[in-house]
Amino acid sequence: MTCLYYNIGFLGGLHPLNTPLRGAELAVYPSINDAYLITEGNKIMAYGSMQDFSPANYSITHRVDVNKGALLPSWCDSHTHIVFAGSRENEFVDKIKGLSYAEIAAKGGGILNSAIKLQQTDSQELYELALERVREVVQAGTGAIEIKSGYGLTLEAELKMLRVIKRLKENTPVLIRATFLGAHAFPTIYKNNPDGYIKLLLTEMIPAIVKEDLAEYIDVFCEEGFFSPAQTALICEAGIKAGLRPRIHANQLAISGGVQVGVTLGAISVDHLESMDEAAMKALSSSSTIGTLLPNASYFLRMQDAPARKLIDNGSIIALASDFNPGSAPSGNMNGVVAQACIRMRMLPEEAFNAATINGACAMELENQCGSIQVGKIANFFITKPIPSLAYYPYAFGSNLITKVVLQGKEIHHSSF
Ligand code: NIG
Ligand code: FE
Repeated sequence: MTCLYYNIGFLGGLHPLNTPLRGAELAVYPSINDAYLITEGNKIMAYGSMQDFSPANYSITHRVDVNKGALLPSWCDSHTHIVFAGSRENEFVDKIKGLSYAEIAAKGGGILNSAIKLQQTDSQELYELALERVREVVQAGTGAIEIKSGYGLTLEAELKMLRVIKRLKENTPVLIRATFLGAHAFPTIYKNNPDGYIKLLLTEMIPAIVKEDLAEYIDVFCEEGFFSPAQTALICEAGIKAGLRPRIHANQLAISGGVQVGVTLGAISVDHLESMDEAAMKALSSSSTIGTLLPNASYFLRMQDAPARKLIDNGSIIALASDFNPGSAPSGNMNGVVAQACIRMRMLPEEAFNAATINGACAMELENQCGSIQVGKIANFFITKPIPSLAYYPYAFGSNLITKVVLQGKEIHHSSF
């Protein structure tokens, strides 16, 4: 199938290179007004200005009138916990009443609450719940997702989660990366024996996961009350030896030292960064590790946002992701993430779009396949109602402007997979 998309009012995200954007580059969003784009099979075959389009060069089999709307590369959401068993709105109410995230975790809520629910849910139900969430975020424009385990916390339950992620990879048109986050919290039975749990991670969980080829990355929640920088390094080093590259939850609730550990280990990304000091800022800006910002989590937990402006201005590479999870960010809608980045973090619309597409793709090492509109890349994009400018998109933060979603070159509806 060779499909022509014509009458495109604004064709955006035309980055020529597949490298992460940093500093002033992040504000550059190459685009063409009044454009066409051609897909062949699941790939982008050509694009250009409508006035340069010559039909004789192609054997077009299908045509789509974009009606002057925008055609933009799909969101690349590089940090989610989309496989989980139940919602936690009771904790949402606890937070309204004034309890902190750490206090809720200390009284047995939080991650441990999700782990009990997940351990009691069979894998088919878990798969169906996660599949429905994937369908929802795809309709909101997402085309690539990183998904973490970490609500299992036993060998059996972590394997169950990762096998669900594998099924999602096989049965959906979304590009998916899997991350082993066994080090998300210490299970209650290891409360007084943290070394025992770390031994389990190193000697049983990592080998079993690698043997079944269930993950590309390893993650650790490096935070006071969770895993220390030394424990984080130990776990990540074991992951690296087994072929899993680290990506780390760092500096969410406090200055944890997680950023420096991640940078030293050559982590692909350090994520959250709500609490940053000069040392962490410096370590990140002089590295190629990507700082992934998760405004859903700081919004939902009523915490300070990551210092996006300072990070961009000091030359750090940053990406934006949803953190979709039942405890601190029960939304995977990247349109909302981009709007929040502009409204609360003072990112320019171009910066936010780039951070949520090409830099997100780089944070999943999928930059050769997605994250921009480029000939040869996978045809993952969405079409919008006509918009007067790119800035209109996050400005109109409450409107659903998406009219069509295309993944792997095919139009995708809620019931397509
Ligand atoms: O990224 N910070 C650790 N993990 C999640 C929250 C998990 C939960 O509360 O269930 C996060 O915010
Ligand atoms: Fe997270």
